[in-house]
Amino acid sequence: MQICQHIEDVRQQGAAWQREGLSVGLVPTMGYLHRGHASLIEAAARENARVVVSIFVNPLQFGPTEDLASYPRDLGRDTELCEQSGASLVFNPSPEELYPPGFCSYVIMEAGPSLGLCGASRPGHFRGVCTVVAKLLHLVQPHRAYFGQKDAQQLAVIRRMVLDLNLPTAIIGCPIVREADGLALSSRNTYLSPEERRAALCLYEGLLAGNNLVKAGDADTEVVLRAVRERIEAEPLARIDYLALVDPLDMRPVPDLSGPTLCAAAVYMGTTRLIDNLLLKD
Ligand code: PAF
Repeated sequence: MQICQHIEDVRQQGAAWQREGLSVGLVPTMGYLHRGHASLIEAAARENARVVVSIFVNPLQFGPTEDLASYPRDLGRDTELCEQSGASLVFNPSPEELYPPGFCSYVIMEAGPSLGLCGASRPGHFRGVCTVVAKLLHLVQPHRAYFGQKDAQQLAVIRRMVLDLNLPTAIIGCPIVREADGLALSSRNTYLSPEERRAALCLYEGLLAGNNLVKAGDADTEVVLRAVRERIEAEPLARIDYLALVDPLDMRPVPDLSGPTLCAAAVYMGTTRLIDNLLLKD
């Protein structure tokens, strides 16, 4: 497995694979990798001859009061996990490599799936995500790129961007990987104190409570949202940032439960913001 810091090296390797007719999968990450990331890399390795994993804590997608400086990093452990999971190349650029002095060209989604939820709570977040993902897709030119469904809105935004900009990469969404008790894996789980970690389960249990009502077939959106909210708010350490029933394609709130419905939530456990979601109706 190669480790590259420079755009030019990645470009050259990508071009060599293209000449050899090898398919390439890209797994963009911000590092501090866990089993969820491993599942993305494994999926990419099953479906492509070569796999590029990018490890880059993207400053553009963090707000001024967010955790850019403290975001967990462990490149040694990450490269080991990449190799074990089937990566061919790890791209670990510096911020200056991706954003040279004077950088001022961004990919901005002005409407559609980027507007609500995390887009509303974290102004500028999806501008950062779209810009870095567009750059990575442009320089790696992968046949397929892999993203986790835990960031369901990010997945919808990237699918929209790829469609709008006619990018030739297939965007593959991969299932959420959870701890044994149901907590969705996240690099930010490492911030949780033991007490917060125990309490954080309210998020998944809330989503399950909503799911049970939908499966029973006699609930409307208000009843479902109330059940989810009540389970989360029963936990004194939890504070809801947002909770919504949305269409999984455009992330707009659904008026009723007649079509595809995703229950999406962001919850603060102390100062740590966790997101999770569950597809209530396909
Ligand atoms: O999901 C993430 O880890 C990041 O948002 C991504 C897609 C790697 C862009 O920085």
